[in-house]
Amino acid sequence: MKDLVRMRTSIAEEMHQLLNEQIKIEATASAKYLAMASWCAEQGFSYSEAYFMEQAQEEREHMIKFFKYINDAGGRAISAEVTNIPHEFESLRDVFETALEQEIGVTHSIYKLVEAARKNRDYITEHFLQWFIQEQMEEEVNARRAVQLFEIIGDDTGLGLYQIDKAIRKVRETE
Ligand code: FEO
Repeated sequence: MKDLVRMRTSIAEEMHQLLNEQIKIEATASAKYLAMASWCAEQGFSYSEAYFMEQAQEEREHMIKFFKYINDAGGRAISAEVTNIPHEFESLRDVFETALEQEIGVTHSIYKLVEAARKNRDYITEHFLQWFIQEQMEEEVNARRAVQLFEIIGDDTGLGLYQIDKAIRKVRETE
């Protein structure tokens, strides 16, 4: 009986492992965004701080979605250990470029999961992942738009940085 209860585990071992790795990736992304928010707060970029606080929250929600999915599927979600989060950045541009790189990395890990789901004929997981594909597209658009502000406005003066920070506030409004 015990085995039967766990039996929706049509979740293959490879998927189980990759989904747990994704928990760690999302948890790490959340922690990195918090560190970015701190750096921005310290430098007085309050709109950027708010942007990254919100990003951190979203990543945590992504992590929870994976966590719950694994457990619902009869697997065991592992609460990830997150260490070595960088807190130092060269500039505001560096923070946003790092954020964009991070989102591109997450998109690749989601694609890897989709490919593994197809290979394992795990159609439920493939379906579950569709939401994340869409979400990543939106997150990359926002991160790119933020980075573009540095070119459009110019970040070589204090005034430019002040205007960039203010413009960051509007990045999500076009979602
Ligand atoms: Fe959950 Fe932005 O990746």
